[in-house]
Amino acid sequence: MTCLIDNYHRRISYMRISVTDHCNLRCIYCTANQVPRLTHDDILRYEEIERIIRVSAGLGIDSLRLTGGEPLMRPHLVNLVEMLKKIEGIRDISMTTNAITLEKHAKALKSAGLDRVNISLDSLDEDKFKHMTGVGNLSHALSGIEAARNAGLNPVKINTVVLGGVNDNEILDFAYKTLNDGWHVRFIEYMPFACEGEKNKVFSENQTVSDKYIKALISEKIGNLEAVLPSAGNGPAKYYRLAGAEGTIGFIGAVTDCFCQECNRMRLTADGGLRPCLLEDGEVDIKTPLRSGISDDELKNLISSAAALKYEKHRLSEKVLPSGRQMWQIGG
Ligand code: GTP
Ligand code: 5AD
Ligand code: SF4
Repeated sequence: MTCLIDNYHRRISYMRISVTDHCNLRCIYCTANQVPRLTHDDILRYEEIERIIRVSAGLGIDSLRLTGGEPLMRPHLVNLVEMLKKIEGIRDISMTTNAITLEKHAKALKSAGLDRVNISLDSLDEDKFKHMTGVGNLSHALSGIEAARNAGLNPVKINTVVLGGVNDNEILDFAYKTLNDGWHVRFIEYMPFACEGEKNKVFSENQTVSDKYIKALISEKIGNLEAVLPSAGNGPAKYYRLAGAEGTIGFIGAVTDCFCQECNRMRLTADGGLRPCLLEDGEVDIKTPLRSGISDDELKNLISSAAALKYEKHRLSEKVLPSGRQMWQIGG
């Protein structure tokens, strides 16, 4: 089988598929819902996604992650999972969700072939959760987490973006969840995007809280962190465990600990762009040729051409921020 190898000798085996740009939350560091959304015709149909992934699997893509906006906003997502699961060569299908509506979908998603979920949860305090998500109800997210665990969508990982002056006072509460409730918690450094319109910018990049700070705080206040291997994962997190904890603590130091040299991924946007890097603009339009009847071989070449466009590393430290799309249009 031909493999996707980029110009920096990295093997690309993982595709993140954004299935919608709609979201039911309005997180303060994300500008979702503040600009017009894609229309039904703009977004790839499930059959189109299935075809792109089938051809990608022939190039060695073996892991998939469904993202959004909020992926569960896309109707009948279970059907897509079923279709993707049948593709030869796909060994891991996961999803990143805010879990607000996960309770009612978890079992069906598992039966359809979803292996595991990562859940975005930035606060354990009801009022703070509402403040950070604009409209979210903490109890819905917690029910979603429980439902995912009960359905066997394991490991369930909690993604917590830490914002200085907003939720950094909850770092220890999240760390205790790994001891008391067996949660797998990952602290994520906020990544700045160049926002459309400063008026939307309620959060400043100066509020990125570094992994180093969080690690030192947990070690000092709770106990030593032992490095461990992830139980499942394809991503950049580094994992640790507090003595006696069932759960793990992961760190995704996107800003202070550049992990681009290990990058293994590309992204398919909801409107059919193949995006080689999260933090660099530049995409290959795949929807137009797809709808004009290209062959599988031509599709393969397009996918390979997108892999060849991957950057060596992001340039956040040089203040080069992505501006073409926002996080919610890419899916992280
Ligand atoms: P696992 O397979 O469970 O390891 O998933 P993951 O950590 O790759 O996926 P998830 O969607 O949970 O992403 C967690 C955080 O990592 C989010 O903040 C993403 O934006 C960020 N992230 C994911 N991929 C990349 C990447 O390629 N570059 C950067 N800079 N951040 C990424
Ligand atoms: N920086 C870091 N992580 C972010 N996420 C959303 N926006 C940002 C950002 N600017 C996280 C979400 C979700 C994942 C896909 O990305 O919380 O867990
Ligand atoms: Fe929605 Fe995720 Fe953006 Fe929050 S961070 S508004 S859950 S897309």
